[in-house]
Amino acid sequence: MTGLYIGRRTDIISNMSITIRSLIDQLDAEHTLDFREYETLLTGWDSSDAAYAAAKAVIWRQHYFSNKIYVRGLIEFTNICRNDCYYCGIRRGNHAVERYRLTEEQILSCCREGYELGFRTFVLQGGEDAYFTDDRMCGIVSEIRRRFPDCAITLSLGERSRESYQRLFEAGADRYLLRHETADAEHYGKLHPAELSWEHRMQCLRDLRETGYQVGCGFMVGSPYQKPEHLAKDLCFIQEFRPEMCGIGPFIPHHQTPFAAEPAGSYELTLFLLSLLRLIKPDLLLPSTTALGTINPRGREMGILAGANVVMPNLSPTDVRKQYELYDNKICTGDESAQCRDCLETRMESIGCEVVTDRGDAPGRG
Ligand code: 5AD
Ligand code: FES
Repeated sequence: MTGLYIGRRTDIISNMSITIRSLIDQLDAEHTLDFREYETLLTGWDSSDAAYAAAKAVIWRQHYFSNKIYVRGLIEFTNICRNDCYYCGIRRGNHAVERYRLTEEQILSCCREGYELGFRTFVLQGGEDAYFTDDRMCGIVSEIRRRFPDCAITLSLGERSRESYQRLFEAGADRYLLRHETADAEHYGKLHPAELSWEHRMQCLRDLRETGYQVGCGFMVGSPYQKPEHLAKDLCFIQEFRPEMCGIGPFIPHHQTPFAAEPAGSYELTLFLLSLLRLIKPDLLLPSTTALGTINPRGREMGILAGANVVMPNLSPTDVRKQYELYDNKICTGDESAQCRDCLETRMESIGCEVVTDRGDAPGRG
């Protein structure tokens, strides 16, 4: 009896595994699946399927980018934010965080330092800080554009009006990162207060695209209340929207937020999703994020081995880094920009990859 029972169990497991492998094969060949198929994949996978997907993802990464990894210098220029997202450490309701705002001169000197370290993309990221009006922000962007004409300027400033996106684009910004956070409106409502709307978020992404930006969306893995069906929706959205970039990382709780007691997202699932994203859009600019490096000491290397092709070392002044803590135990908060650059270079070399300094536009775009 026992033998028969084990025999049946083995059959069931291998049938599931066959289904999962054939879905991965289909994604590898056609780059599309439907919602149900993504859901099957996300509920039925195991670590050997993840390794199978990673191997295929790396083949695509190498096809478009060989062993080259792009670097983006991240400048966290303000931690002042009018929003109150339940997951985020710099939410306005966190009165314990010491707020800061870099001056234009400080931002420009971060760019200068980054330029000298070889970076040709600057990512200006901040909370939704009303001080940075369109006039002020356009002044900063056009000055970076004037001083560093060979660099790409990426903005990550949250939700703004279509006119604002247009003006910033005309001032010289090339790319914009705005994570959609979740493609499910109801799930979005559980991560944000009612004053924020999923519809508006999605409208911003369409506005950015129509303005002419190279657009990045993205989501957290394992955010509270997230179910496989939500992730399946995220993958469907990305398959349809076809962003140039996509930022994903595990949710990590911050002790001064309403989600302080929630568990962190899964490291393995984040890696599996990186591989699936690479298969969905083989030329996607896909960062191996700081959050991934925070939940696992070799997270960023493993992210690249799962299919990612971008790293984003921190260029913010060392004295403010600790204050841009979106989640607990964020790495690199005590390191100089040059240390982060060298550290990432060594990490990438350890897995046979090479950090390159060009602008790293999406293939087919200039
Ligand atoms: N854990 C992981 N990622 C987070 N972000 C914000 N808070 C957290 C957290 N607690 C991500 C969001 C946001 C990006 C800048 O950082 O996805 O869009
Ligand atoms: Fe910042 Fe390693 S990347 S210290």
